[in-house]
Amino acid sequence: MKISNILQDSKVSESVTVSGWVVTCRKQKNMSFIKLNDGSCSEGIQLIWDEVDIGDSSQQNMIQTGCSITVEGVLVESPAKGQSVEVQVNKLTIIGSVDPDKYPLAKTRMNLDTLRNYLHLRSRTANFGNVFRIKSAISHGTHEFFKKERYLHLDPNIITVNECEGGAGVFQVTEHDLTDANKLPIKDGKYDWTKDHFGKPVFLTVSSQLQLEAISCGLGAVYTTNKSFRSEHSSTSKHVSEFTHLEIEDIFIELESLMNVGERYIKYICQYIQDNCNLEIEGLNGFISKGIKDRIETIKNATFHKITYKDAIKLLQSSDMKEKPNDGDDLSSESENWLTKHFDGPVFVTHWPINIKSFYMKQCDDGTCESFDLLMPYKIGELIGGSMREDSYDKLISIMKQKKIPENGLEFYTDLRKFGSVPHGGFGLGIDRLCMLFTGMENIKDVIPFPVQYKNCE
Ligand code: 4AD
Ligand code: MG
Repeated sequence: MKISNILQDSKVSESVTVSGWVVTCRKQKNMSFIKLNDGSCSEGIQLIWDEVDIGDSSQQNMIQTGCSITVEGVLVESPAKGQSVEVQVNKLTIIGSVDPDKYPLAKTRMNLDTLRNYLHLRSRTANFGNVFRIKSAISHGTHEFFKKERYLHLDPNIITVNECEGGAGVFQVTEHDLTDANKLPIKDGKYDWTKDHFGKPVFLTVSSQLQLEAISCGLGAVYTTNKSFRSEHSSTSKHVSEFTHLEIEDIFIELESLMNVGERYIKYICQYIQDNCNLEIEGLNGFISKGIKDRIETIKNATFHKITYKDAIKLLQSSDMKEKPNDGDDLSSESENWLTKHFDGPVFVTHWPINIKSFYMKQCDDGTCESFDLLMPYKIGELIGGSMREDSYDKLISIMKQKKIPENGLEFYTDLRKFGSVPHGGFGLGIDRLCMLFTGMENIKDVIPFPVQYKNCE
């Protein structure tokens, strides 16, 4: 039985069989205590016994932090505080032993940096158990939210021929082993893509948006939770090479309503986590992420401010910041943090100059585009990037020329503007950053089970 099921459904004096890993083991004269967890819940369960038949006495010594065991026993009320019930053990079997001298998590509490050396084991720790259960809840809540809002969930291809964002580095995909250059198909001094799997250069997608637009311009409200891949040469605490990318797209909407979907979604997830991960939040709040409980409540009730890029620049220029942005600049992390501090909450920065944004954004007459970035406090910075899409064929082609975006491979995209074009828009939200926001983890590598980052793919 899963420990979560026992805690929820089993009654005192019922017989139970529980399996899991030993979190701690305390042996006293006639009594032993084990804290056991199987990952199904935050709290685990306490086991106690006085005389248990677990074979010969040498086996007793094998019960060490990290070993896996199965016990049979009876659920009893716990006289001690910390838990309401515990298992009085009748039989204990060691399933997988550990050598305490070799098990990395045996004794000392490790900090997050050190734990990253043990990615395969860290989900057994209380903190990562809490973080990953919250991450799973974000995923469940996301699907629940978009189902309620009547979006279709469809994941487009990840291997693609277009670079979408332009600027965000792409990974090329090949079926060839590139180790020995002499064995590669070369024609006229260049790699001969016709000899590769797809017969042409292909990439891992940096965003599913373009395909999602095509699906939306037929089905309306759609979303994906695909992975996106970016070969940015940065190892900041907010960038990974592979991230979970919630992207939505809808037709006959406006920029304002798009932003409101983003706000509604984030607040929904706040509530969802509060309803489903109370113990996880308490666990993080009490130790590694003090204040996270209040943070979630604060975001749930926050005003999401809206300011145009132009006004944001004016504000920043009148600030006491050391390096102030000029009109036309992208916003640095410092500027993002300044703005969320100034407004004391989340801020949508809207109507960016088209020069520093992507080709597909709907152009306005004044050199800006119908776009927004959502900036979040708590040093998260940009959480969402979104826009209305350019739906005029002529304007799209002209800006593609200007930004040197090749039409080759994007015919499907420009076609959407040729045949029954409709106003539409969408956004992308980094789920891993959202998870940082809701767990208090300050490094994106600590919300991803196996993070992959520049110069770091273990
Ligand atoms: O702002 P971005 O680049 O927008 C797009 O990709 C659009 N095509 C989305 C759309 O309109 N459908 O990325 C969107 C979000 C960012 O705000 C950020 O939260 C996250 O994706 N993100 C990353 N997260 C982790 N690591 C990275 N390297 C990320 N790059 C972007
Ligand atoms: Mg962006």
